[in-house]
Amino acid sequence: MSRISRKMDHVRHALELNQTSTLSHSFDDVKLIHQCLPEMDVESVSLNVAVGELSLSSPILVNAMTGGAEETYRINHDLATAAKECGIAMAVGSQMSALKRPEMAKTYRVARSVNPDGILFANLGGEANIEQAERAIEMLEADALQIHLNVMQELIMPEGDRSFKGTLNRIAAIVEKVNVPVIVKEVGFGVSRESAKLLESIGVTAIDVGGKGGTNFAAIENKRRTVPIEMLNDWGIPTSCSLLEVSDSVSRCKVIATGGIRHGLHIVKALAMGAACVGMAGNMLGHWSSGGIDGLIKYTEQLHEQIRLLMTALGTGTIADLHQVPLIVTGDTAEWCKLRNIDLNTYANRNPSK
Ligand SMILES: Cc1cc2nc3c(=O)[nH]c(=O)nc-3n(C[C@H](O)[C@H](O)[C@H](O)COP(=O)(O)O)c2cc1C
Repeated sequence: MSRISRKMDHVRHALELNQTSTLSHSFDDVKLIHQCLPEMDVESVSLNVAVGELSLSSPILVNAMTGGAEETYRINHDLATAAKECGIAMAVGSQMSALKRPEMAKTYRVARSVNPDGILFANLGGEANIEQAERAIEMLEADALQIHLNVMQELIMPEGDRSFKGTLNRIAAIVEKVNVPVIVKEVGFGVSRESAKLLESIGVTAIDVGGKGGTNFAAIENKRRTVPIEMLNDWGIPTSCSLLEVSDSVSRCKVIATGGIRHGLHIVKALAMGAACVGMAGNMLGHWSSGGIDGLIKYTEQLHEQIRLLMTALGTGTIADLHQVPLIVTGDTAEWCKLRNIDLNTYANRNPSK
């Protein structure tokens, strides 16, 4: 199976499985506390956020998806056009195919050419070396580099990697050498406390938890297998658990929440749980598929509006205020946190600074 046909398989299966539209999500275990005296108005809400040295005018990031096959040119073009219109950041999919086949670089570069001043992230896997990282960043004049970790996806993929040694050292060398922030991300199986601490120790700027609950690469790869390993379709750390674990265990690293984010309430909950911003992949792809650029713009505008309304009902004018609101965590997520010694009473009794 070539890298090019795999790229389109992923897009097709992600759309077909439509995994991000399932009704329940681990964020259902998280409740925000309504404030009937917010003493503020919707117009005063600021959506500006900082992820390390990056200043973003929205907490929404169109997360890494594609590039590397002719058909993906249009997808990256349209995602970048909507990102520009809505002032949101965007990541391209893994650029390894363009490093191996330079004629594919245009399918990624289009994201920069349609949005020359936007915030754009390069993307490579944990197998990348320093030289490849530098070339990927240069290809896009990228503002940051994402490095994805996708062990379970590779294991289920018949043609996938079987050796995962040396990844942390390679990432450390890249962090040391490149001149943009490095973000390490999962692709839907979540980041644990143990892994987050290792990543923080080597100086990565941000960890994107990429938790279970949205696009499911176990299910996608199983669709591509002649003999599926279906027991793995439920593998991974739910987004709520991963987000609380990682937020609780790192101090310098910023945390990004991805994994089944669908609407404004998910976004506000993620930010309240400690995320600096949220990533959305499958749902953006779905809105692109059904509504093109206009559909994406409309969806993103609705998300911004929903965030503003919710922040008003919580009495929070800034995302920094949102990080301090009290949260009630119950159900499976609370059970998980209890066993992992995460103190949910502190979250439940936080005092928002006014
Ligand atoms: C079609 C598709 C292709 C993807 N390709 C990549 C990729 O090349 N690199 C990467 O880091 N993540 C990739 N991802 C993972 C997403 O960035 C994200 O981590 C994951 O889909 C979970 O988010 P979601 O539930 O909002 O879709 C891809 C996702 C989709 C839907």
